[in-house]
Amino acid sequence: MRKPFVAGNWKMNTDSQSSVTLARGVAEGSVESAGRNVDVAVCPPFVYLQSVARAVSSSSVAVGAQDVYFEKKGAFTGEVSAAMLKEIGCTYALCGHSERRHVLGETDELVNKKVTAAIAGGLLPILCVGELQSQRESGRTEEVVTRHVTKGLAGLSGAKVSAVTVAYEPVWAIGTGLTATPAQAQEVHALIRKLLGDLYDNETAEATRILYGGSVKPDNAAELMSQRDIDGVLVGGASLKVEDFLGIIQAAV
Ligand code: 13P
Repeated sequence: MRKPFVAGNWKMNTDSQSSVTLARGVAEGSVESAGRNVDVAVCPPFVYLQSVARAVSSSSVAVGAQDVYFEKKGAFTGEVSAAMLKEIGCTYALCGHSERRHVLGETDELVNKKVTAAIAGGLLPILCVGELQSQRESGRTEEVVTRHVTKGLAGLSGAKVSAVTVAYEPVWAIGTGLTATPAQAQEVHALIRKLLGDLYDNETAEATRILYGGSVKPDNAAELMSQRDIDGVLVGGASLKVEDFLGIIQAAV
């Protein structure tokens, strides 16, 4: 049985004060549900990771980074290693978020290096995958998602893959208010689970959590998560409001 997982990706939002206020609100409001019935994580901007990690330290809310670099250390100006993130209290790292793929030009090869380095550094990667609107319209969703998953996990053994969460985020649904219907999302989640079975084995496929992301709100979260292969959600905009995020966590319980 896969434990539901609700993660908030704050993207490039909040400031030093509001990030801590938001984190405290999530930690206090999810006392009943977080940990026992549902895993909860927040992913603030890098500069607020440490203060947010402190703010949630006595709760079961975990902290994730929005990205991680694949090298261990050295002359990589502006980058942050897995060890650095681990040291300040991160549990998770997003890898290959669509904004990094499409705004910042990350390739499948780079994303794979990041996933691999995150695991080696003791972090749990959340591998983000998903098609553009034009790709869906031209019937290429399966091909794109298959490539993102296969290349994102390339070279990882089944044991290593048990550290990975996959997040299916159709790009056309991110920040647009257009949510994939539960049936559309379920179709792709089932495809990803089958692919994990083909790449690894049935046990790995059944154990891996697959989250949906893209305009998730308190009023659509429960129906999405009621689908067989949707094990939780990766939330952008609605994770910036305590009440909305708590509503989504409640929907997962
Ligand atoms: P929205 O929930 O704002 O659509 O963002 C989804 C997302 O990109 C989470 O990583």
